[in-house]
Amino acid sequence: MSQMKQSVLFVCLGNICRSPLAEGLFRHHVARAGLGDRLFADSAGTGDWHSGEPPHPNSVLIAARNGIDISGQRARQLQTGDLGRFELICGMDASNVANIRALSRSTRAGNTHGKRAEIVRFMDAGSMEECDVPDPWSKGMEAYQKVFDMINSTMPRLIDRLLKAQKRVD
Ligand code: 4NP
Repeated sequence: MSQMKQSVLFVCLGNICRSPLAEGLFRHHVARAGLGDRLFADSAGTGDWHSGEPPHPNSVLIAARNGIDISGQRARQLQTGDLGRFELICGMDASNVANIRALSRSTRAGNTHGKRAEIVRFMDAGSMEECDVPDPWSKGMEAYQKVFDMINSTMPRLIDRLLKAQKRVD
């Protein structure tokens, strides 16, 4: 089997609400399935306003209520180099995807093997439902609960997709 881990980058606008939850939930599902040696995830924001900050307190709280600690994550901005480092980049909503694609068009970045990430909307990649994960920023706890539930229920299918892609390259 290839030693390469399949990698996914979750991207939202600020990297403090949705994509940190996606990163935390990915790690949680992957650890539970014993797949940590095969899969890797990170997260980033298309904006840089929150770089270096921990996730939003509501995201930290909703994750903690479900036994997941995301408090150690720190926000960072999406870099052109990310386009050549990950197999898959998931934007959480359509505007995130448009921003990632615009960055991709503006650069020829790819790694030395020509790897270039596939860019998809998160729910389109892992769900039967084609929709945005709505931005909960400045909304109440209910909005964060909805985001958590959408990401949590979709993550197993996204993980299956990565495992199938890994089989194709092995
Ligand atoms: P996120 O939410 O993209 O899910 O992290 C947001 C966080 C911050 C802002 C917007 C959305 N903001 O405008 O600062």
